[in-house]
Amino acid sequence: TVLVVDFGAQYAQLIARRVREAHVHSEIVPSTMPVEEMLAKKPKAIILSGGPSSVYAEGAPNVGAELFETGVPTFGICYGFQAMTRALGGTVARTELSEFGRTQLTAESGSVLFEGMPADQLVWMSHGDSVVEAPAGFATTAHTAGAPVAAFEDTDRRLFGVQFHPEVMHTEHGQEVLRRFLYEGAGCRPTWTMVNIVEEQVDRIRGQIGDKQVICALSGGVDSAVAGALVQRAVGEQLTCVFVDHGLLRKGEAEQVEKDYVNITGAKLKVVDAQAQFLDALAGVSDPEEKRKIIGREFIRVFEQAAREVVAESGDGDSEVEFLVQGTLYPDVVESGGGTGTANIKSHHNVGGLPEDLQFTLVEPLRELFKDEVRKVGEELGLPSEMVWRQPFPGPGLGIRIIGEVTRERLEILRDADAIAREELSRAGLDRDIWQCPVVLLADVRSVGVQGDGRTYGHPVVLRPVSSEDAMTADWSRVPYDVLAQISNRITNEVREINRVTLDVTSKPPGTIEWE
Ligand code: XMP
Repeated sequence: TVLVVDFGAQYAQLIARRVREAHVHSEIVPSTMPVEEMLAKKPKAIILSGGPSSVYAEGAPNVGAELFETGVPTFGICYGFQAMTRALGGTVARTELSEFGRTQLTAESGSVLFEGMPADQLVWMSHGDSVVEAPAGFATTAHTAGAPVAAFEDTDRRLFGVQFHPEVMHTEHGQEVLRRFLYEGAGCRPTWTMVNIVEEQVDRIRGQIGDKQVICALSGGVDSAVAGALVQRAVGEQLTCVFVDHGLLRKGEAEQVEKDYVNITGAKLKVVDAQAQFLDALAGVSDPEEKRKIIGREFIRVFEQAAREVVAESGDGDSEVEFLVQGTLYPDVVESGGGTGTANIKSHHNVGGLPEDLQFTLVEPLRELFKDEVRKVGEELGLPSEMVWRQPFPGPGLGIRIIGEVTRERLEILRDADAIAREELSRAGLDRDIWQCPVVLLADVRSVGVQGDGRTYGHPVVLRPVSSEDAMTADWSRVPYDVLAQISNRITNEVREINRVTLDVTSKPPGTIEWE
């Protein structure tokens, strides 16, 4: 693995993904992790990410020299580059001249990182301070107008650094620089491929489950479908998929899962109608975190019950279901504060929302993967593209898209509005351009309207179309006006309780994709 040391900014996730795009496994660790603990992970290389604006800033994370004495090839990027400079005795100057955005970089010939690339290239910069003197033993390998030392390397100690951001698209040869570090600088090999991921996971699942029974929580979404298909491949006969109709699903969704999934994977499927149970548990609750925790808890209760039934049906009174498969992804783990020491932004129902008295051991074969990797694994497993490219839908479903208490009536209203939005976006051919488009019902807000000759006092809905690569960051989608107009007309005409349609034009950050 390659460790990406996170200095608390957004950059670490992107770097980790780019490393995997170079077919090398990566893992994000917090900058506070002790060096011994990093070494225990036997990293092939370490990458120090970008971070706060200045190594001199108050509270800026420190990097000790011991990190560079481990013999592990290390690459410092932006903040990581400056922190490395300081730790090894070079000079970082607090210059007045900042560089932000596209910048012309000139590389020296004969450097490991820039070999085979044009000497002049455009890179993405974002820095105030500059390295003015490389530490002893380092050769300066590139400069820009504002940064006399924009890259350096010490090939004996296999230490490298760049001031710019190779991970962002705007850096012309960024991915190539990263690959050169990984392959040439650190001697990594491109072994992280879909075929290998599938084989490795299948082996691991067989090892974990043995001859025990396992159930898989299907949600209708991509992740649980792929997780289930992986487990099906590993221990087919021992698996029962459980699909919980919690009443928070979109229109037609329950029927679709029943039809599609079984036909394609041949898995055993059990459908549980738990609508009343979830709605009872959610009655009177409007706090988002509380809703998530309740939904997570009820899910588990349903699975426990389903597991007892699976055992009863198998006729083997001594056996029990010990394992529960979930489609947890790497971003879920990171955002729920697991793994990197980052803040708990929201409790994804399948990570932070699990009850403490969980009866099952979790099987989470996608726990290390990003969404785009999950889709590739799904294709590798032969799942059809309609299933693999389905828009993400959160486990807590429409429960977190009703702002306010969740009731049966409100769910009906939202389901109708959501179905119209989905239909029109598909009709306009926008499914692959849009990552997902939550429709959010502002159930506690009322607005005055006029329909026909009369005054109405209804509810607004919010359209939240976003584009994203992995849901860690997102931008609002520029959906054509005529498509928006069509959605708005249809919703206000066809869904009686809604008299206003609004568009959310917030990126993530600062907004999250879902409203709760
Ligand atoms: P946010 O709202 O955090 O969402 O920007 C990021 C992505 O995750 C989905 N999401 C969830 N998925 N359980 C899930 O399985 C959850 O609790 C959950 N909350 C959000 C969301 O739809 C988006 O794709």
